[in-house]
Formats: sequence, C-alpha cells, structure tokens
Amino acid sequence: MKALILVGGFGTRLRPLTFSMPKPLVDFCNKPMILHQIEALKAAGVTEVVLAINHQQPEVMLNFVKEYEKKLEMKITFSQETEPLGTAGPLALARDKLIDESGKPFFVLNSDVICEYPLLEMIEFHKNHGAEASIMVTKVEDPSKYGVVVMEQESRRVESFVEKPKRFVGDKINAGIYLLNPSVLDRIELRRTSIEKEIFPEIASEKKLYAMVLHGFWMDIGQPRDYLTGQRMYLNYLRKNMPGELLASGDGIIGNVMADETGVIGERCLIGPDVVIGPGCVIEPGVRLFGCTVMRGSRIKEHACVSDSIVGWDSTVGSWARVADITVLGKDVQVADAEVIQMSAKPEIIQKV
Ligand code: GDD
Ligand code: MG
Repeated sequence: MKALILVGGFGTRLRPLTFSMPKPLVDFCNKPMILHQIEALKAAGVTEVVLAINHQQPEVMLNFVKEYEKKLEMKITFSQETEPLGTAGPLALARDKLIDESGKPFFVLNSDVICEYPLLEMIEFHKNHGAEASIMVTKVEDPSKYGVVVMEQESRRVESFVEKPKRFVGDKINAGIYLLNPSVLDRIELRRTSIEKEIFPEIASEKKLYAMVLHGFWMDIGQPRDYLTGQRMYLNYLRKNMPGELLASGDGIIGNVMADETGVIGERCLIGPDVVIGPGCVIEPGVRLFGCTVMRGSRIKEHACVSDSIVGWDSTVGSWARVADITVLGKDVQVADAEVIQMSAKPEIIQKV
C-alpha cells in the first residue's frame, strides 16, 4: 500500500523552530513529527511513502529520508512542486507514484496532526462502505479553525463538508487523514487546488464520501499552544498504554515525564508534569520544569524554571532564569542568568541571528 504526506508550507506558526528545521522534522516527544506518521503507516502495511513538498528541498530533509528508508525498510520519495499546489494539487502531481497495478486505495495525511492513527481500522471501514473515499473525523470544542463534516449518524455517509465555516454547522471536524480510491485522482486537476474546498464537497454531493469517527486523542500541533496540548495528550496516552517503556519515574519526577536516557538530571530538581527532555540535555540541580519541552543538546542551569514553553535545540537557560507562558526559543538561544521571559497572550519569538 502507498501513502502521501502533505508537507508543504513554511511552518510560520512554529517559528523560530522552523527557522532551523522544516516543520515535519521538528521534534515532537523526542521524534521528528513526521516519523510518528511514517511509523504508523508502516504498521498499517504501507510500504511506500511520498512526501509532497513545495519549497526547496533542504539537505536535512534528504538526510532524514536516507536514514529512515534504511531503518524502517520503506521506500520514501519526494514529489516536489515548483509552486504551491494546495492540498489537492500535490496528489495530481504525484499521480504516477500513487497508482499501482492492484488499484488499491492510498492514504493521504496532513503532516501536522498527532493521534493514535487507527489506520488498520480505517482500511476495514473503507472496505465495508465500499465507496470512493474515507476521511477520519474527530470532535472538537471550537470547530471554526478546521474543516467541518456533517454526516448521516448511522451510515456515516458525509452529507456536507465545509472548510473553516463562519457559522456553526457541526462539531465533527476533518482530522487530516484520508483513505482514497485511485479514482479520486481523476477529479483533481494539476493546478493549485484545495481538497477540502473543491474535491470533498464534490464527492460528498455524489454520496461517495464516508467519515470514520476517531476515538482517543487528536491534535493539530502546528502552533505552539496546540503543540504543548498535543504533548500532554500524547504523554497521557503513553501513561495509559505503555507506562513502563517511555515515561520516567523516581525522585523529583511528577506525573508524565519523558526523558531521553542520554540526558542528565541534577539533584533537587522538580520535573513535571507533562515534560519532554531530549537527548544530551543537561538539567542542572534545583531546576523546575513543567508543561514544557527541552530539545536535544540544551542546558537548563541551576534553579531556572521553564513552564508551558518550548526550548529549541542546543539552547541555554541561565541560572535563576524564568521562561514561561508559551515562549518558544529557537536553536542556539542563550537566556541570561536571572532573565525573565514571559508573555501572556502571544508567543515570544527568540532566535539568535
Ligand atoms: N505539498 C503541499 N503543498 N502541502 C501543503 C500545501 C501546498 O501547497 N499547503 C498546505 N500543505 C500541507 C500542510 O503542510 C499541512 O500538512 C496540510 O497540507 C494542511 O495544511 P494546513 O495549513 O496545516 O491546514 P489547516 O491546519 O489550516 O487545515 C487543514 O487541517 C485541519 C486539521 O488539522 C484542513 O485539512 C482542515 O480541513 C483540517 O480540519
Ligand atoms: Mg494544520
């Protein structure tokens, strides 16, 4: 089986992290975002993944592909647009890569969503309804920033699909995971086009689109606040499903904490809940961390406090400093001793120039 992941865009909402790393490679719980998806696709029997990219192919993306093609024994290729083709155009561009002789359906994923990925269940769902396309939906409190799906309760047939509705039409939203028959490709022209605005409404009007309700957690992690909420949900999921394997325990650890084994945590620290510490990090004595991520190679000096924030790669937070309130530090940032970085409403963007 094959899959395409939409990895276009510049990840502006995750700056300054995305100044140093393409969004799909930004770490989420100590793994590049896109690796969560590729591993889930592999577990569902996918052998070939096409990454649909629309900006210059950075070296770092190529290195990632080389490394994981080998590790996962999968074929991972690029389909590169010369200009952004939206969320449907990239499928037309990759048409030859997606169709195989067997005529099997293929997966399409947005690159910035995190969930349990019940993809095997989705294949069953798709077989059972026998129509042209399946989309995964989930319930959210504020549906206005998503694609809203209205469906027939029993059959799960989609009656209408409205992208970013201005008024309330329902609370089930498009989770950004699709399983499509190859015939869907005949509906898409090779130009900038939106699968949500042009293709799904058309398939729904022909009664050939079905929606599977996703159980468990789901989050679009393309913005700092949502990233941290997604992290809390993911750690909670690990706690329920595989607690001993990935979560830390011991003195000074509170609630759900993931700490890479190559990191060092000093004495009298208080870590957690909802903290991720990356490889090679040094957390010096007396540090307080909660609701945050400290990425690979960073150092948090004595008695500093980091909360509800993201510390990018190879950064340093000085002694007695305080970083809080959805602050996002980029790569190689130095926060001086005793400095306070705290923004209430909007993210503080800090990047070494
Ligand atoms: N290759 C390519 N080319 N990819 C693109 C392009 C493009 O021109 N434009 C966007 N993408 C990719 C993004 O990288 C992302 O993975 C996906 O397409 C969706 O784009 P977003 O910009 O993240 O859209 P959104 O979050 O506002 O809304 C989408 O996702 C929601 C769920 O998170 C829609 O699909 C909504 O219907 C959905 O509810
Ligand atoms: Mg998104």
